[in-house]
Amino acid sequence: ELSPIDKAKFVAAKRAAEFVEDGMRVGLGTGSTAAWLVRCLGEMVREDGLRIRGVPTSTRTGQLAREAGIEVITLDEARWLDVTIDGADEFDSDLNLIKGGGGALLQEKIVATASDQMVVIADAGKEVGTLGAFALPVEVIPFGASCTRTLIEETLVSMDVLGRQVSLRMNGDAPFMTDEGNHILDLHLKRIGNVRQLSLVLNQIPGVVENGLFIDICDTVVIGYGDGRVEVRD
Ligand code: A5P
Repeated sequence: ELSPIDKAKFVAAKRAAEFVEDGMRVGLGTGSTAAWLVRCLGEMVREDGLRIRGVPTSTRTGQLAREAGIEVITLDEARWLDVTIDGADEFDSDLNLIKGGGGALLQEKIVATASDQMVVIADAGKEVGTLGAFALPVEVIPFGASCTRTLIEETLVSMDVLGRQVSLRMNGDAPFMTDEGNHILDLHLKRIGNVRQLSLVLNQIPGVVENGLFIDICDTVVIGYGDGRVEVRD
């Protein structure tokens, strides 16, 4: 018997799997909700003979997909994707997102942007009026990371945000390492007034590789509830 939160994630994943058709190239997201999707698709491959090729957004998801029996190819082999299905940490009424809680935001953004369609799967608790309660992940090059952090802190002073605290994500005693060998700074902003401007300004800083704001990328959000209901928003 699943907990309400797992049930919500599962029913959202199950409904989103309906977006996948035979022959498609599918971007596979990262995180606990996306893991449910990979399991659902694996079942469809093994039991219904669905033929798809999956492009994972992390080594973790790649491993899961192979275990589930999904053929895995690289994004460069696929060249473009029919659909990407991924989780999110927050979404708002414009279907803009914060992603990267799992640290995979860079590959996730590249894959989603290379897709005709991005479908987000989320439990209802991820919906917010204004993005920013969840700390915004920013992927930075390890070289000069503390200088990059200072530049970000200075930049935040002039931005339309409530909080300005920045923390280096850790993995035990060492900085967390992304699949691309970079670090993550988590920006505790509470409320982001102008997501477009913040995203542009952050990506303008030399040591910043990418930030976790997904603006105008997501087409559909499939929202799962603990009682098994599903809502599709687009
Ligand atoms: C991974 O980097 C993230 O973008 C995930 O998609 C996000 O953190 C959602 O994860 P859960 O599905 O585990 O909440």
